[in-house]
Amino acid sequence: MCGIVGYVGNKKAQSFLISGLKRLEYRGYDSAGIVTLDESGAATLLRAKGKIANLEEKLAKNAKTDKIGIGHTRWATHGEPSEKNAHPHQAGNIYLVHNGIIENYKELKESLKDHRFKSETDTEVLAALINSFYKDGKYPLANAVVQALKLVQGTYGIAVVSRKNPDEIVVARSGSPLVVGVGHDETLIASDASALVGHTKRAIYLNDGEVALVTKNSIEIRTLNSEPVSAKVEEIETNLAAIQKGGYEHFLLKEIMEQPKSLAETLRGRINTKTSTVHLGGPGLSEAELRKIKHLVIVGCGTAYHAGLLAGYYIEQFTPEITVETVIASEYRYRSAYIPKDSVALIVSQSGETADTLACLREIKKQGIKTIGIVNAIGSTIAREVDGGTYVHVGPEISVASTKAFTSQVIAMTMFGITIAQAKGVKSGVLKPYIEEIAKLPKEVENVLSSTNEQIKTIAKKYAKYEHAIYLGRDTAYPASMEGALKLKEISYIDANAYAFGELKHGPLALVDDRFFEVAFLPKGTLFDKAISNVQEVLARGGHVIVVTNEKKFDMPVENVVKITTSIELFAPILMNLVSQLFAYYMTTARGLNVDQPRNLAKSVTVE
Ligand code: G6P
Repeated sequence: MCGIVGYVGNKKAQSFLISGLKRLEYRGYDSAGIVTLDESGAATLLRAKGKIANLEEKLAKNAKTDKIGIGHTRWATHGEPSEKNAHPHQAGNIYLVHNGIIENYKELKESLKDHRFKSETDTEVLAALINSFYKDGKYPLANAVVQALKLVQGTYGIAVVSRKNPDEIVVARSGSPLVVGVGHDETLIASDASALVGHTKRAIYLNDGEVALVTKNSIEIRTLNSEPVSAKVEEIETNLAAIQKGGYEHFLLKEIMEQPKSLAETLRGRINTKTSTVHLGGPGLSEAELRKIKHLVIVGCGTAYHAGLLAGYYIEQFTPEITVETVIASEYRYRSAYIPKDSVALIVSQSGETADTLACLREIKKQGIKTIGIVNAIGSTIAREVDGGTYVHVGPEISVASTKAFTSQVIAMTMFGITIAQAKGVKSGVLKPYIEEIAKLPKEVENVLSSTNEQIKTIAKKYAKYEHAIYLGRDTAYPASMEGALKLKEISYIDANAYAFGELKHGPLALVDDRFFEVAFLPKGTLFDKAISNVQEVLARGGHVIVVTNEKKFDMPVENVVKITTSIELFAPILMNLVSQLFAYYMTTARGLNVDQPRNLAKSVTVE
């Protein structure tokens, strides 16, 4: 969702702002804008609806050497995507960019009679509010920002500049991330550290309730109550290669194909096949604490939720006396669910910034329940607020549709489950097959990706004209089928839904006709024959079935079979999910759609 960048230094601000905004494009946006100030305070404000390329067209006619500025990509919440609603917003001498939502903007607007509003945004209200404290020299800029923020309800990450002080930027956050990049004679601002990569490796992550006044060689941080904060400078670990396409046409394909490597990173130093044990340093729970766990609540949104569902099936299989409940964060935060005291909550999020997941984390902590993060983005809000955690370490995921994060989230959570089982004294013979398969997975993932890629491309071409799809699975293949359907719908816009095989007769079977095709996951195992009977039922009604299976002997007359050759059995649904990922990718390219930035969606959903 919305992105913020800012620059103050000796170089051309416009260049950094545009390149920074491009780095944040993947988060999803529908308009963009920048403002820069020259030494006398004269402002150049450029805004455009749509892609950053439109903004660049305006820039070509308005190139400036200004050395300070702020920029924004907006994902519309209040008011349609348009130039007038795009940020930066101006009030008097100040310009503001804002991520988040000002919930009490209507009340605040009532009190701002002096300002003539030009947009429909909550952000302009905040700009006017800050200006009401700033104009007539009432407060210096940073203090005016503080006064305004004290009246605000909602979430924000903001950057503010003033024509009267063309050498400073004021930034602040509450619920929406902001990073200050520390350079040599320059300070950079971004809502996501990826915009800073290649410019500086040193960054300060602001905490909620902090306001920073930055110039090219100073950073002064205070709380909203004016207490000074001594900033911790952290290292940005991401390198340029990790945020570039690396020869692939799309980030999505790159991210699918790099799973052998990203999964190996998730496992690094954490499993020992000689002793058949798992060691996770991050959760920070003692053996005694692990032994006491009776319930796991797994919280996430979208793909992270599906990863939690699948991991939950595994954890139940090998951990006795434990119940797992996997929940959708946007629902759970408003449920009156009682969480027993002997529970631990796993908070799953690739970005570590998803608003609903973060809200759940805070609610769960209030109940005194230990929280463990299963997060990818290092230094993100969720990673910092959980009691302990296991980073999945898959590197930046740029494409909106999540792929490599899913695979590693499932395995990271399963490994956490294994550490509970170990502490509870589950026999190593029970855990060994899981650990052995996990160790083999990176290689098996590589084999499946290379051996099925061409076939899936061909199959996708055949089905690209369909508008409806049904994904089917049971047991561990059911959450995998849910994730498959999500992948297809989010990028190819095909109406795809997943059903548990056993539910077919309770409704979905009525859908089977020539408008639909069905993707059936058939992993070997005790429920294989039952699933086969369900496929028969679909075939008998004229279904267009694609089967994905690791059973060599499968020989039913379905339209297409993707046979996975693997020694993996327990985690076969993870391998089947790779087929779904490739299938969604090739369906989308066959339909000529925007793979990495599907319409209406954002990578990181930082508002409710
Ligand atoms: C958005 C993304 C999804 C992602 C979900 C949860 O909807 O488009 O790909 O699964 O948010 O994101 P998180 O960062 O919390 O894993």
